[in-house]
Amino acid sequence: MMSVSEALRKRISTRAFLPTPVPETLVREILDVARRAPSGGNVQPWKVMAVAGEDRQNVIDIAAQVTQTNPAGEVGERFIYPDNLWEPHRSWRYKLGEDMYALLGIPKENKLGRLAHLARNAEFFGAPVGLFFIIDERMGFGQWAHLGMFMQSIALAALERGVASCMQEFWARYRTSLKAHFQLPETEMIYCAMALGYADESAAVNTLYADRAEVDEFATFRGF
Ligand SMILES: Cc1cc2nc3c(=O)[nH]c(=O)nc-3n(C[C@H](O)[C@H](O)[C@H](O)COP(=O)(O)O)c2cc1C
Repeated sequence: MMSVSEALRKRISTRAFLPTPVPETLVREILDVARRAPSGGNVQPWKVMAVAGEDRQNVIDIAAQVTQTNPAGEVGERFIYPDNLWEPHRSWRYKLGEDMYALLGIPKENKLGRLAHLARNAEFFGAPVGLFFIIDERMGFGQWAHLGMFMQSIALAALERGVASCMQEFWARYRTSLKAHFQLPETEMIYCAMALGYADESAAVNTLYADRAEVDEFATFRGF
């Protein structure tokens, strides 16, 4: 059985999937484990919309329609990154992009090539299952953080079962249309999506093991 540490080290954002279906029972099992994620006051500020088959195709079609009229997507009130991201975060973000496109063999000059890869987000990178994470707009930033813990729990529970994932805030571009499509109540919104499926091990992009800052770069120890 996979240890927690092993799962943490092994989880990566998979960006090329095989079409092999993930059965509903397995997705349910993953969610059943992940629902043990903590949340302040145990408010469990999340809902999940899981799509496969025709329902997956429907959201892919919606994304394509929005992109046709509005290539940048629907701009919402909640930003994905703050403007003018500062150091060291700015460099980390830049490095991730450069490392990923280097593996894909798409140089900076090939803007269309890079955009085409970015657009694969809107097809869940080929994953047969998409999860959408829904939060009530009245929730504060604390609850958004707790939703993140839930998402990581899902990714780890999935990995343990051989199921790869990619969290996808890219889908924030289609929040308005997806809200209408899923007929969400007025106060609810989609925060993020997650692609779930079996990794295409032959895809170079899946060999990306994104760097991390060393512990001493982000942690301060006092009084030990
Ligand atoms: C909330 C969240 C949203 C993300 N959205 C996207 C996305 O839309 N597309 C994508 O390719 N990766 C996305 N990622 C993946 C990050 O780029 C990735 O986690 C980071 O580069 C670290 O790499 P690793 O997950 O492979 O360890 C997202 C990650 C998180 C946590």
